Amino acid sequence: MTHASSPPNLNRFDLTGKTALVTGGTRGIGRAIAVALAEHGADVAITSRRGGSAAEDFLAHARSLGRRAWSFAQDLVEVEAVPEFAQRVWDEMGHVDVLVNNAGIAFFEKFDAITLERWRQVMAVNVEAVFFLSQQIAIRMIAQGVRGRIITVSSTNALVAEAGQAHYNASKGAIELITQSLAIDLGRHGITVNSINPGLIDTEIVLDMNIPPEFRAHSEAQIPLEHRWGTPEECAPAVVFLASAAGAYITGQHIVIDGGLIAQQFPRDSFLS
Ligand SMILES: NC(=O)c1ccc[n+]([C@@H]2O[C@H](COP(=O)([O-])OP(=O)(O)OC[C@H]3O[C@@H](n4cnc5c(N)ncnc54)[C@H](O)[C@@H]3O)[C@@H](O)[C@H]2O)c1
Repeated sequence: MTHASSPPNLNRFDLTGKTALVTGGTRGIGRAIAVALAEHGADVAITSRRGGSAAEDFLAHARSLGRRAWSFAQDLVEVEAVPEFAQRVWDEMGHVDVLVNNAGIAFFEKFDAITLERWRQVMAVNVEAVFFLSQQIAIRMIAQGVRGRIITVSSTNALVAEAGQAHYNASKGAIELITQSLAIDLGRHGITVNSINPGLIDTEIVLDMNIPPEFRAHSEAQIPLEHRWGTPEECAPAVVFLASAAGAYITGQHIVIDGGLIAQQFPRDSFLS
């Protein structure tokens, strides 16, 4: 029997019954987000370029939690394939409540070494695939009356530039205005659109960038919070929050997760006596 005074469900971070799609979910920040969404009750699909054992590993973990889980292989650099991909995902999952655009690439190279081919590769994955996958999923959310959530993994590089990353900086800067634009366009449909902006997070993307090992200690010295890089698991809770009932009235925003890196103008705390 239900009492009129039954306490409301106070776990406003509970995602039970929601379906979530996380691009680039086999490793790094994307995997941590996919795991956190599943641990909070969501049925979760991940995408990767090729599938493989990391994808299988996630499926086994999510299913051990009692969730439905899917893995889709799709190279997002092929932007023309995104509409067909979105339809395939939607058909298999039934619908998507939460889209997390996480897949991204970064390179560290001087401005005069950046080729047009590299520029277009970065824009294709970090900007075009994000916009068009969001567009295609949002069209389907609207058609089925899904009051969904779109969350993109942007970067502090969207807010302040970093040396040797003109293409990456520009791509993440574009995410800020895509986020705001879609928040406006989709607001009337009850769909929220936000980003998270990690700073320096310990993932394989940094290895791929061929940065000299000395960079680690140099960069850690600039981070106010405990002089350390963050972890993927420290990025994921902000996505759970934005995806959950607790984030219902937040849209067009970004959440910076950087240990205070861009809060300071210039590090000189070591000069304080
Ligand atoms: N690690 C950091 O310091 C940091 C900081 C700020 C933002 N980010 C952003 O976080 C996101 C995740 O990066 P990460 O640090 O976990 O690195 P990562 O390299 O471990 O993960 C990137 C993911 O994107 C996927 N991906 C890359 N290119 C793809 C393509 N063409 N098609 C499909 N999938 C593709 C990869 O398979 C991988 O799963 C990226 O958008 C990145 O820009 C990372």
